[in-house]
Amino acid sequence: MFPSTITTSLLLGSQLAAATLIQRETTQLVNSTACSNVHILIARGTTESYPGSLETLAEMITANNPDTTYENLVYPATDETTTNSYHVGKKAARKQLTSFVERCGHTDSQLVVLAYSQGAMVIADTLAGGGGDSTLGNLTAPIDYDIGKHITALVLYGDPRHAPYQPYNQGYETFNVTGKYPRSGLQVRYLTEHYGHVIHDYCNANDPVCASGTNITAHLVYPEIWDTTAAGWVQSVLDQN
Ligand SMILES: *[C@@H]1O[C@H](CO)[C@@H](O)[C@H](O)[C@H]1NC(C)=O
Ligand SMILES: *[C@@H]1O[C@H](CO)[C@@H](O)[C@H](O)[C@H]1NC(C)=O
Ligand SMILES: *[C@@H]1O[C@H](CO)[C@@H](O)[C@H](O)[C@H]1NC(C)=O
Ligand SMILES: *[C@@H]1O[C@H](CO)[C@@H](O)[C@H](O)[C@H]1NC(C)=O
Repeated sequence: MFPSTITTSLLLGSQLAAATLIQRETTQLVNSTACSNVHILIARGTTESYPGSLETLAEMITANNPDTTYENLVYPATDETTTNSYHVGKKAARKQLTSFVERCGHTDSQLVVLAYSQGAMVIADTLAGGGGDSTLGNLTAPIDYDIGKHITALVLYGDPRHAPYQPYNQGYETFNVTGKYPRSGLQVRYLTEHYGHVIHDYCNANDPVCASGTNITAHLVYPEIWDTTAAGWVQSVLDQN
């Protein structure tokens, strides 16, 4: 049952429950679109309820930065092969990123985007241009760089469109792996040239989604393995700005 699920979609179902989170010092998230010191946009993975497993990373960032708020990317996060979730997600990302820039682009508010699994594909494709794959449909244009350039840091966990050999790839021996829906060369180059400096793309070895692997557990343990590292990186970027 696992292999067919893995090859046809990013659906994880009850396997999500298998992911256990370790305890850390955190601060409760504040759901608000105010132009706060740090604003977090969270794009959850398939089948997760809001805000999803990125909550722990968002809590760490919130604990480290007074006046942090967050919003969810509002999209279905249902199976991308049988529903329009991916397409709805890209439209929502465009709208919510544009809205942030209109509201807060003239302020000191720093935008951090956290995205897991289908959410990572939706966010990174909004920046890189999407589609161009038999499952994901026609090519779509990247969001205007005048909008995208307002992202201070983007954390990707288990991106289904993970590309090998990119300077922002993070993980143990996954620098060279390819996700299940590889981006075109043009999309990869555009993403890396425009946004490479603000991305950390975490991919676990043998993850069926980002690494063409066979170990579904590897797709479910990003928070435990990477939250501390990712929060540290986000902080270093925030502190430089
Ligand atoms: C966050 O706030 C928005 C706007 O008030 C609301 O629609 C949404 O349901 C809230 N989300 C959560 C997870 O609380
Ligand atoms: C994709 O593009 C083709 C050719 O332009 C068009 O006929 C088709 O309707 C498009 N599909 C979608 C889902 O937009
Ligand atoms: C990636 O690199 C690792 C470590 O060097 C190697 O074991 C593995 O075979 C490589 N995988 C691919 C897909 O090239
Ligand atoms: C699958 O991944 C998990 C999490 O990274 C790891 O602990 C486990 O050893 C892996 N299983 C196999 C068979 O490699």
